[in-house]
Amino acid sequence: MSPHPDSVSPSSSPEVDTGGSLRHQPSEAPLEKVLEIGFIGGTGPQGKGLAYQFARAGHRVLIGSRSLERAQATATEIRARLPAATAVGATNETAAAKTQVIVVAIPYAGHAETVRSLRPVLAGKIVVSCVNPLGFDRTGPFGLAVPDGSAAEEAGRITPESRVVGAFHHVSAVNLWRDGDTLSHEDILVCGDDDEAKTVVLQLARSVGHRGVDVGALRMARILEPLTAVLVSVNKRYQTRSGVALVGLPTS
Ligand SMILES: NC(=O)c1ccc[n+]([C@@H]2O[C@H](COP(=O)([O-])OP(=O)(O)OC[C@H]3O[C@@H](n4cnc5c(N)ncnc54)[C@H](OP(=O)(O)O)[C@@H]3O)[C@@H](O)[C@H]2O)c1
Repeated sequence: MSPHPDSVSPSSSPEVDTGGSLRHQPSEAPLEKVLEIGFIGGTGPQGKGLAYQFARAGHRVLIGSRSLERAQATATEIRARLPAATAVGATNETAAAKTQVIVVAIPYAGHAETVRSLRPVLAGKIVVSCVNPLGFDRTGPFGLAVPDGSAAEEAGRITPESRVVGAFHHVSAVNLWRDGDTLSHEDILVCGDDDEAKTVVLQLARSVGHRGVDVGALRMARILEPLTAVLVSVNKRYQTRSGVALVGLPTS
């Protein structure tokens, strides 16, 4: 393992090639490479939790933030729990610039503006959106009306040069920050229009113990994102952290 610097400079080169041959692996192939994964908004519970799980699986994570200090603090928190982790703090821009797979883990409220500002560094990259545009009123959670249909499609429109995939919408941040095998019974529903990018994300899900399920085109995010409102509503009623698992799929 490499040392754990608390920041990366834009001029330093990634230690791991995260692109290239991965894009041409057949979907059945195991994920053989360690990925270097950037996080936009990696200081929040969801970004931090996903980063922790990815780091547990041996991937290297660059925690992005609008504040380098906050990013470094989160990277330190991950390393404190997982001393072997390669977890580094960076600005959002550097986290995106230095990696080939970037998870967008910010609230929908800041989504369009943030993605637009990062468009140059996201070009050509795999952009994984777990953003759930949700609202809450007196009757509970609901899916917000999104002009593009979904946050993932909005990201795709704003960054047409990037390869947007929707995934990890339904895993609870609290569960992600846990140790042990608390998540393998949940599926990761993955949607996107770029099959090779989707394959990388399906394999990433598998590398952290989940079954990844290809649910189709990026526009399926219109269903995946607001489906989270159902889970939140169930969680409140049953005092639990529900997830998603499909039945009827081939077992291979
Ligand atoms: N929490 C969950 O259980 C869960 C589960 C599935 C999916 N998700 C989705 O994952 C995303 C992140 O969830 P979260 O609970 O981690 O959210 P969060 O804590 O509200 O925000 C995550 C991070 O985004 C940055 N941020 C906040 N407002 C921003 C803005 N206006 N513009 C740019 N960056 C902003 C902040 O980082 P800095 O201040 O450090 O920049 C913050 O730490 C959301 O879209 C959510 O729907 C969450």
